Amino acid sequence: MDMRDDVLEVLVSAEEIQKRTAELGEEIGRDYGDRNPLLICVLRGAVVFLSDLMRSIPVHVMVDFMGVSSYGGTNMDSSGVIKITRDVDTNIAHHDVIIVEDIVDTGLTMKALVDLLNTRGPSSIAICTFLSKPQRRKVDVDIRYCGFEVPNKFVIGYGLDYDENYRNLPFVGVLKPEVYEKRKEEKG
Ligand code: PRP
Repeated sequence: MDMRDDVLEVLVSAEEIQKRTAELGEEIGRDYGDRNPLLICVLRGAVVFLSDLMRSIPVHVMVDFMGVSSYGGTNMDSSGVIKITRDVDTNIAHHDVIIVEDIVDTGLTMKALVDLLNTRGPSSIAICTFLSKPQRRKVDVDIRYCGFEVPNKFVIGYGLDYDENYRNLPFVGVLKPEVYEKRKEEKG
């Protein structure tokens, strides 16, 4: 079975992604120079973006990972209360932090994460997200670097999943509705 058969349309092609990540990497390099920022990648969706982004940044960076899940949210919606499933190993005090995310949707996860990291005394925190869905926003989030704004559609690929599948698609696509309708029926 080819998972590309489940894609209704391609929203962002692999070529567009490559071009944009290269631009973002250059921009981060210019903005940070020799400040050696710490990239904090939010697991799991952002690993694909991180991998391309960090190789486009021409200055020294450090990398760490954070696992975050939302308490009591549904499959589609986060709740705004986050649970840290894996914390960073780095003491972020006095570091310039760049949070690397795959998508800012309602913004609730990002707001909670920024609030938490701010209690640890970093020099600065900036948000770098691959995708943003502005139409879905419930809280204001100050995004410094954004790959692409996307409409309110069910997006998958390049790290983004549906039920843990499709993360390895090299582009961003829209999932065919019949796929999740069918899965919902199977799960009852
Ligand atoms: C996704 C995404 C963000 C969050 C955004 O995570 O990676 O962390 O949802 O939603 P919000 O703006 O509405 O809060 P998900 O829980 O799907 O985890 P994953 O990255 O492991 O797929």
